[in-house]
Amino acid sequence: MPVHEVHFIASNTSLNALPKDGKPEYAFIGRSNVGKSSLINMICNRTSLAKTSSTPGKTKLINHFLVDNNWYLVDLPGYGYARLPKTVKEKIQQMIHSYISKREQLVCLFVLIDSRLEPQHSDLEFINWLGAKAIPFVLVFTKSDKLSKNELGRNTSRFSKSMLEDWEDIPQIFITSSVKHTGRDEILAFIEVTNKKFKIN
Ligand code: GTP
Ligand code: MG
Repeated sequence: MPVHEVHFIASNTSLNALPKDGKPEYAFIGRSNVGKSSLINMICNRTSLAKTSSTPGKTKLINHFLVDNNWYLVDLPGYGYARLPKTVKEKIQQMIHSYISKREQLVCLFVLIDSRLEPQHSDLEFINWLGAKAIPFVLVFTKSDKLSKNELGRNTSRFSKSMLEDWEDIPQIFITSSVKHTGRDEILAFIEVTNKKFKIN
């Protein structure tokens, strides 16, 4: 599916202030610095639509980007960022949790996992929370350009194995690199199919 036009709509902290047009949205979540904002830019073929940084904790708000006037990409702050004051961190966590559990037009959450790392407790714990809340999600392994094919295969199967300790199935998996534009077509094809289920174009 091609992407023609993307508009930044708003950055919010409060659920009440989010767009009310009912268009389906796809939100990106994962540990700080995993590459959420970079992936949104890559999908939109833009360099600095969503703000990125090599320092974890860049995104602190709920950011809505409207694609072709039909659906939203939502850039969220990361979880597990340790260097912010505890109160700020708790507020951000609360905001993310309330967005994910209450936002009706959130049709699928993209959970980003750093493909270079061993399975992380914070990721598995977050995924289990999604399970408990019955939130639909898919997995996205990021920064695949930093690994060989073998390393990538080993790390993704390790992650699946860890997940299978608590889950019966593994959700759909995407392998991405925002540097090499890997995985863009696959993610857009998934969104296109999902939009159709929601009767959008
Ligand atoms: P927070 O907003 O802080 O939670 O981070 P984020 O998950 O939005 O990460 P962001 O997109 O800001 O990227 C973090 C760092 O990783 C930046 O320095 C990016 O350039 C780098 N990065 C992101 N994606 C990739 C990728 O696919 N490959 C490589 N090599 N670097 C990446
Ligand atoms: Mg970000």
